[in-house]
Amino acid sequence: MTVKDALAARKSVRAFRPDPVPAEVLEELFTTAQRAPSWCNIQPWRAVVTSGAATTRLRDALLEATRTGMPAPDAGFPIDYPEPYGSHRKECGKVLYGAMGIARDDKAGRFDAWLRNYQLFGAPHAVMVSMARTWGIYGALDVGCWLQSLMLTATELGLATCAQASLGAYPGVARAVCAIPDDEQLLFGLSLGYEDSAAPVNEARTSRSPLPANVRFLTT
Ligand SMILES: Cc1cc2nc3c(=O)[nH]c(=O)nc-3n(C[C@H](O)[C@H](O)[C@H](O)COP(=O)(O)O)c2cc1C
Repeated sequence: MTVKDALAARKSVRAFRPDPVPAEVLEELFTTAQRAPSWCNIQPWRAVVTSGAATTRLRDALLEATRTGMPAPDAGFPIDYPEPYGSHRKECGKVLYGAMGIARDDKAGRFDAWLRNYQLFGAPHAVMVSMARTWGIYGALDVGCWLQSLMLTATELGLATCAQASLGAYPGVARAVCAIPDDEQLLFGLSLGYEDSAAPVNEARTSRSPLPANVRFLTT
């Protein structure tokens, strides 16, 4: 598989089969992603990968947090979506809820769909990602490079992923279950495993803008 093939094939998967990924495949995945570039090669990404009972413990604790607490992510979530971002966000929701058969005004259905984030969409593994609080935006860029490296490698290995900022919404819980130190900022999580390709939600496909919306070639 070429990098271009992996870029074309990767998508967010929101229904997984329960079978765990063998330990040696996990090792290969994370070892490959270590090649991601970073500011002065500081390699600021820190990840805790859960399996088995640890996944169950994290999932249960996060679900309990959704029932008893309010989201309070370390890195505040965006609130305003001016154009063109508002339209992109709307299209993303439409594609996703459309694939799940949830109507626009179905509040209970949307709430259930949000809760599925904390069930890890049925995945056998969670990856909780943090970085030292000192790094700011350049550290976050490095973690982004690592994230895409990880997701493309996962694609090549036949694995499925969903990056989830929602998994960072209850940082106290993740911090306690995964022993993430206080001087680390929790950024996001990922669900990781094998795609349940029979699940309608995995038919959701987001679009991308035509190139001039994002890139200008300046020649004179
Ligand atoms: C940093 C980050 C956080 C995200 N958080 C969530 C999330 O909490 N829940 C979710 O279902 N998808 C989440 N996504 C997935 C995006 O919705 C998805 O990448 C986007 O709609 C494009 O679709 P695609 O990944 O299928 O190409 C996140 C993606 C990124 C990169």
